[in-house]
Amino acid sequence: MILVTGGAGFIGANFVLDWLAQGDEAVVNLDLLTYAGNLENLQSLDGHPRHLLVQGDIGNRELVAPLLAQHQPRAVLHFAAESHVDRSIHGPGDFIQTNIVGTFHLLEAVRGYWQALSPARQAAFRFLHVSTDEVFGSLDAEASAFTEQHPIVPNSPYSASKAASDHLVRAWHHTYGLPTLTTHCSNNYGPFHFPEKLIPLLIVNALAGKPLPVYGDGLQVRDWLYVKDHCSALRCILQAGSPGQTYNIGGNNEKTNLEIVHTVCALLDLLRPRADARPYSSQITHVTDRPGHDRRYAIDAGKLARDLGWQPAETFDTGIRQTVQWYLDHPDWVAHVQSGAYRDWVQKQYRSD
Ligand code: NAD
Ligand code: TYD
Repeated sequence: MILVTGGAGFIGANFVLDWLAQGDEAVVNLDLLTYAGNLENLQSLDGHPRHLLVQGDIGNRELVAPLLAQHQPRAVLHFAAESHVDRSIHGPGDFIQTNIVGTFHLLEAVRGYWQALSPARQAAFRFLHVSTDEVFGSLDAEASAFTEQHPIVPNSPYSASKAASDHLVRAWHHTYGLPTLTTHCSNNYGPFHFPEKLIPLLIVNALAGKPLPVYGDGLQVRDWLYVKDHCSALRCILQAGSPGQTYNIGGNNEKTNLEIVHTVCALLDLLRPRADARPYSSQITHVTDRPGHDRRYAIDAGKLARDLGWQPAETFDTGIRQTVQWYLDHPDWVAHVQSGAYRDWVQKQYRSD
């Protein structure tokens, strides 16, 4: 079996659902169920014989060490994190606590477990650390995409905390020999994405007739990857990646934020036209830019393609269409995530605009 941390969040839940659908191995899912952890993401697994959800903190060694000893996973996939850049600007403390201190405690619990395994099981064990392209900082318009050799120069409290956790993982491999794999993925989108992030925020605001907030000039560039392609890359790296290595994961889909907004609006115009037949783009509103906003991210995923043969299955056109359709098909999920706590966040973040 495998142990997943953060498997009730956006990417973790997609990973757990795909994992259970595609194989016969069980998953222990350790998640603190913060505001970002959502049991409704896992509703289809109610009563599933190979899924065990354990509510708890990755930083709680008294919980994690016995959990590992009891379930004897052959791998740990570490998704759990505070993940939203804007929240990290308002309050970096939780990011330091979970992403750095929490990852440290998790690594120590895993090291204790791993060191007690037989040599054969030690060799087969993997700790896969799910990180982000944001640790590489910001690129100029003409600069080459991030390779695995790019300097680690994070700019936001979020990316700095992720970079710190990457360094811990690297050191636990180098010093103790823990068989680690680290991945740097670009922006994900798809089902179960919490609507504090750009794409789901656009969809839910558009349908509610609210402004579509574009930070600054909207010409910032991100690479976008459909979440199920991220999950397939992680399965591939878990199976065939070399311990101690890092792998970039990307979708070859560099887009400005304005291109994203117009694409989402055009799809909604087609699939769910406004009652007054006006285009959803009429709701676009430019708002104050994010402090320290990274201008461009771009991922060179050539190593993953060359060494392990991985390619994304979806183009941006096919992935974004499925995503918009998923939100239209799941109004209850959307209504439930927009709880009191969510409304408080939206008020805090967008109040002056
Ligand atoms: P998310 O915020 O949707 O989910 C995070 C999950 O971790 C939640 O279920 C939350 O309850 C859980 N969690 C938080 N603190 C915890 C703790 N102390 N102990 C146990 N569980 C805890 O995040 P996501 O978008 O699914 O991202 C998952 C991982 O992928 C993160 O490590 C993130 O840095 C990385 N990543 C995300 C993206 C993206 O576009 N979303 C891109 C690249 C990498
Ligand atoms: P986000 O989804 O928060 O991901 P990240 O900051 O990790 O890349 O934001 C994606 C891009 O969209 C980023 O450049 C910030 C921008 N953005 C907006 O313009 N308006 C918004 O309301 C949000 C949430 C993001």
